[in-house]
Amino acid sequence: MSEPDIALQLEDLVMHFGAVRAVDGVSLTIRQGQVLALVGESGSGKSTVGRCIVRLLEPTSGVVRIAGADVTHLSRRQMRQYSKNVSIVFQDPGGSLDPRMLVGDVVGEPLRLQEGRRMSRRDRAARVSEELGRVGLRPEVARRYPHELSGGQRQRVSIARALISSPTLLVADEPTSALDVSVQASVLNLLADLQHDIGFACLFITHDLSAVEYLADDVAVMYLGQLSETGSRERVFAHPAHPYTQSLLAAAPIADPPVQRARSRVLLGDDLPSALDPPSGCRFHTRCPLAFDRCATEVPALLAIGDGTASCHLVHADGTGPDVRLTQNARSPA
Ligand SMILES: Nc1ncnc2c1ncn2[C@@H]1O[C@H](COP(=O)(O)OP(=O)(O)OP(=O)(O)O)[C@@H](O)[C@H]1O
Ligand SMILES: [Mg+2]
Repeated sequence: MSEPDIALQLEDLVMHFGAVRAVDGVSLTIRQGQVLALVGESGSGKSTVGRCIVRLLEPTSGVVRIAGADVTHLSRRQMRQYSKNVSIVFQDPGGSLDPRMLVGDVVGEPLRLQEGRRMSRRDRAARVSEELGRVGLRPEVARRYPHELSGGQRQRVSIARALISSPTLLVADEPTSALDVSVQASVLNLLADLQHDIGFACLFITHDLSAVEYLADDVAVMYLGQLSETGSRERVFAHPAHPYTQSLLAAAPIADPPVQRARSRVLLGDDLPSALDPPSGCRFHTRCPLAFDRCATEVPALLAIGDGTASCHLVHADGTGPDVRLTQNARSPA
């Protein structure tokens, strides 16, 4: 089932925390060297997907395949050997770096764990210097402690650590959202440049739709533990099929004023329903401006639409869907 050019494949991934259905059947694919942005409101399950991929969490069910290998049930030890293929960068660079370790040891640790005695300390230090240079830090930083650095520098250190083993796949979980606004762009640019130069595949988890436009090849939109829509960035931004995607895009501030004006605002309004007891039928129906009877009772199938998928009773197989902008007040299908 695995093809050589697939970096990541999730099949029906489920992660429940007791009664909390954080992830409830997510399937997606990232090709080698491609960036897939995973977007959705807070609490929709994005980080949980990321944590299952790097096996910080053991999924309740489903399959995680990285570069063709099923890693779903690897033991901790097997995963260590496998871990050179996948890395994660977290939102908070402070919390994810061991404060007692020198930066050089933090960055070199994956090599120490993976290579052991096969690599000398000297070779490892040389690789650490090289990697620090690649993320725009001077070699001297290796002898500092994380708390002596700025937030932006610390995030560069986490990126260096994540990339030192040349992973096939990088999971970047809101890598800039904890940083000062003034340094967010530089860290985002760095990630984009590295991705472009090195060509690793990336699952880019974010709230920031302008970052998605800048960085992603494909987009997956998550709502309450499930995917509402997937597709190429161009298509999803230009012709979002699912009412939830349309609402997300309409609620986001857009740099281009004419585009902004053209999009009548569909505010999502109230909070995401609880993952403890998700709505029946289509999970979005309680907030969907277009919902009709069937939406409350029947789970919409995940429909293949050209370059992706959408799950909505109003989306047609040719990828055309309802337009929330035009039919905001409609409550029944045309
Ligand atoms: N360890 C856990 N135990 C219990 N519930 C959890 C745990 N981790 C996450 N959850 C719940 O799972 C759901 C999804 O959480 P998750 O952190 O994956 O969302 P998210 O999309 O990453 O949100 P954000 O954008 O705020 O980071 C939420 O309802 C959350 O409360
Ligand atoms: Mg998260």
